[in-house]
Amino acid sequence: MVRLDKYLSDADVGTRSEVREYCKKGLITVDGVVCRKSDQKIEPGRMSVCFRGKTVSYEPETTICYLLNKPAGYLCATTDDTQQTVFSLLPDIDPQRFFPVGRLDKDSEGLLLITNDGALSHKLTSPRSHVPKTYEVWISGGLTETELAALQNGTDIGDDTPCLPAKVSVLHTEPSYRLTEAERERLPKGTPDVIFASQVRITICEGRYHQVKRMFHANRHEVFYLKRISIGALSLGNDLKTGEFRRLTAEEIAKASDVTATEE
Ligand code: URA
Repeated sequence: MVRLDKYLSDADVGTRSEVREYCKKGLITVDGVVCRKSDQKIEPGRMSVCFRGKTVSYEPETTICYLLNKPAGYLCATTDDTQQTVFSLLPDIDPQRFFPVGRLDKDSEGLLLITNDGALSHKLTSPRSHVPKTYEVWISGGLTETELAALQNGTDIGDDTPCLPAKVSVLHTEPSYRLTEAERERLPKGTPDVIFASQVRITICEGRYHQVKRMFHANRHEVFYLKRISIGALSLGNDLKTGEFRRLTAEEIAKASDVTATEE
């Protein structure tokens, strides 16, 4: 079932607000009866919808969503002239029809959704939806109580407003963490091979540009490893190796779409 205004705007009859006007003017019929309620539910294929007397036949595309365990080194983009994108990991999926839901930085790993459904993507990424996203990161140094409290209360990262409060917990501290070559390149020049480092889990409800890295940077720590482990109700789990993906079931898509949005 789909709302009449969505059905008609997806069928290119007009924008949603134009469709609402058409409804008010009595230009739309459903099963032969004038319909003035643009939120009327339509069963595509089973109900007959006409605009100005002409049948609008349109089969809405089924929502398809893949969950990819993104490796570092791939751009979250549909195409790029010089760098490999996440679509090179999904060879049978058409980047003309599918797109990544939100972004992970090129050097970030973990849960990335790829869908053909703009509404699903909007729901999960709209700043007003406040969908929680959880990351496991490795940072340089150890977090003091003051820094922990700053992250939990809402860090100022130089935007117009401070970040919303985050949930933060230190999972592990490692006095002698041996950095990989890739990790060392993400740290300031001259960083030694072995450093004091901490593994931290952080949950944020926004999706600002480089947000997690900037939140730690504002507290004088560098993130040298970042992996997203969940978005809303969806978790990465342990089944997918890095670089592997799977298609979400209809149930999982419904669960993911059921964001308890706090839209104003
Ligand atoms: N925050 C970041 O800084 N980078 C990501 O890839 C995701 C969240």
